[in-house]
Amino acid sequence: MQQVNLGMIGGGTVGSGVFHALQLNGPLMASRIGVKVSLRKVAVKAFDESRPYAIPRSAMTTDWQNVVRDPQVDVVAELVGGTTLARAIILAALELGKPVITANKALLSAHGEELFAAAQQHGTNLYYEASVCGGIPIIKALREGFVGNRITHLYGIVNGTCNYILSRMKHEGADFAAVLRDAQVQGYAEAEPSLDIDGHDALHKIGILASLAHGFWVNPKHIYVEGIRAITRADIQFAHQLGYTVKLLGIIKKFERHGPQARRRPSGNPAAGSHIQVSVYPTLIPNKHVLAGVDHVFNALFVRGDIVGDTLFYGRGAGKDATASAVLSDLADAALDLKFGTKHRVPPFVPHERKGAVVSIDEVVSPYFVRLDVKDVPGTLAKVATIFGEAKIGISSVIQPEGHEGASVPLILMLHDAPNGAVSSALKKIARLPVVKSAPVMIRVENFG
Ligand SMILES: NC(=O)c1ccc[n+]([C@@H]2O[C@H](COP(=O)([O-])OP(=O)(O)OC[C@H]3O[C@@H](n4cnc5c(N)ncnc54)[C@H](OP(=O)(O)O)[C@@H]3O)[C@@H](O)[C@H]2O)c1
Repeated sequence: MQQVNLGMIGGGTVGSGVFHALQLNGPLMASRIGVKVSLRKVAVKAFDESRPYAIPRSAMTTDWQNVVRDPQVDVVAELVGGTTLARAIILAALELGKPVITANKALLSAHGEELFAAAQQHGTNLYYEASVCGGIPIIKALREGFVGNRITHLYGIVNGTCNYILSRMKHEGADFAAVLRDAQVQGYAEAEPSLDIDGHDALHKIGILASLAHGFWVNPKHIYVEGIRAITRADIQFAHQLGYTVKLLGIIKKFERHGPQARRRPSGNPAAGSHIQVSVYPTLIPNKHVLAGVDHVFNALFVRGDIVGDTLFYGRGAGKDATASAVLSDLADAALDLKFGTKHRVPPFVPHERKGAVVSIDEVVSPYFVRLDVKDVPGTLAKVATIFGEAKIGISSVIQPEGHEGASVPLILMLHDAPNGAVSSALKKIARLPVVKSAPVMIRVENFG
């Protein structure tokens, strides 16, 4: 049986998971693909670091160049993380014409265009299944399974930490800060949690998926992002009362203009082409929608193709074993490509829509949940409604819990479809009303229409 030798840089959570998975299921994989994958070397920072699965000392080195430049290494897996060393490792391997596997979404988000071009230039391939949603084979689904579809909508719960926090806030009526502290103790959130809770990890993944689905490289700077820090127990409870659940949602949607807007071009877009919304923000989704039931650290993606219709993917988005499963899938593809000499059987990322553009969040239209903290005096609701009315923004429902005259009470409003820019301007005016006691909270609503 033909043999392909793997060299790994990184033997931590993911790297040691790959080592373990290969030991467990390497023979099964070989029997399926007709190629034996053998782990030749693993580069680590320090030999005696503790790892989720022990790797024999004899397989380790502390010099990554030893792995990449070893003529016996056919495929390189970059499992180090970060954007500096990881970029150097991948470029060095690609220059040698070696296929590379990476799990590194931060790197692809920042330098993906350059790395895919380098793979193309050196006649080799860059595989990245593990970079988005760990064990869910969403990259393969978009690249291969849906190759005959235009992806019109993609909604993703792609950050396990945020989903864990929001699920516990909903089910236990707990506060954000308390759940975050507990998540850190349980190992579901980092000591420095901002990458996750401010939405940047989700942004990296959604940018990769948007680029793949729409065929032009999405600049991460054009992706609108809001995290979950500002979500309170009260927002979650009022949302529930209205029939909604709050989720941090990555949204990739073909953008369509309505009414007078239809005659205008999107900001910064010189010509016609595919215009898409690419964003990450806390979203109210109907309780009856399947994504509302995705709890704990699980990830899920709801993908709509013009031919296939609606599809759903669910699974663990991170962790040593789920992520190792994705690396093994890439390893099998790389081994088969080497076996058959088919370097670009399925190209990693094909730009086919060079005139594509991401629209500004101000142009995106949706319904809204708004929570105001107001003084309970007659005429308050009328003042707020007047400002929305002047901006041509319709109110669909109101919740105003009874309070004592003069006390601060929440005022909850559901707004009809309106552009983000118009709602933001109206809320700035509302915030200046003397009866409004703190900054308005606005959460967008998604009805999956
Ligand atoms: N963890 C997950 O669940 C998950 C899920 C999806 C994607 N990813 C991505 O997978 C990648 C790896 O994540 P991870 O969680 O496995 O990280 P990790 O546990 O911190 O492992 C990093 C590995 O890189 C090694 N390393 C660091 N600097 C090195 C150097 N200069 N030379 C050689 N080796 C070096 C470390 O060596 P030592 O062991 O000696 O410290 C360690 O083995 C990241 O890009 C991450 O975003 C992770």
